[in-house]
Amino acid sequence: MNTPSYTKTSYLFDGITSSVVSEEAMRSIRSFIATENLYLSATREIATKFENLNNDLKYSSERNPIHQIQTRVKTPMSIFKKLERRGFELTSESARKNLTDIAGVRVICSYLNDIYLISDMLLSQTDITLVRTSDYIKNPKPNGYRSLHHIVTVPVFLSKSVETVHVEIQIRTIAMDFWATLEHQLSYKLADRETMSIANNIKACAEEIADIDMRMQNLYNIINPPSNP
Ligand code: GTP
Ligand code: MG
Repeated sequence: MNTPSYTKTSYLFDGITSSVVSEEAMRSIRSFIATENLYLSATREIATKFENLNNDLKYSSERNPIHQIQTRVKTPMSIFKKLERRGFELTSESARKNLTDIAGVRVICSYLNDIYLISDMLLSQTDITLVRTSDYIKNPKPNGYRSLHHIVTVPVFLSKSVETVHVEIQIRTIAMDFWATLEHQLSYKLADRETMSIANNIKACAEEIADIDMRMQNLYNIINPPSNP
């Protein structure tokens, strides 16, 4: 019989389906929960920073550049699949070392310029370290996807240690988010024979949406001219 082995320590899913939970499996589960909690804390740290910036801008500039903030921590299954796909060890330690997108924060802004405003403000904070940026607004993906992505690290203060945690930040407009949400759903269902024409259509929608984002930004600029000092 093929029973799960609990002797190899800290496999993410060891013990979860077993009625007899070994010491090793308990350690593995505890280690995973601690990891999950760490990433949850990191998303809260980053989300709070964005909320603080948004609130501060409300008082200083009488406007809220951020429409919505969403956070997520990757599910165990999704972490497991990504580690497996990339040929990494299936442990909590390996996930922490090799994956930079376990914690995710998505910031949805009203206008195009707000993306860079809020991004610069976050990256200038002294406890944030920028690891990598992908500007899919200046360089959209071939399918039309647009957003500004950063991988950053943020310190998380725990009871006995300070941990440096990676967070993936996606900043986009409401319009870019609308497109990305629908594209994600549509792309799942694309059958081969219709792929090219539908994919071209989805891309054309992204371009129209980008044009609308620019027109909205221009309208905003006309209605709110920069004030003279
Ligand atoms: P991953 O292994 O997918 O994380 O690739 P990566 O590390 O190169 O990251 P990338 O910047 O390409 O994408 C990270 C995330 O951005 C994804 O998990 C999605 O949330 C979002 N994303 C990237 N490309 C697309 C896209 O074409 N469509 C949609 N809807 N979302 C995308
Ligand atoms: Mg990812």
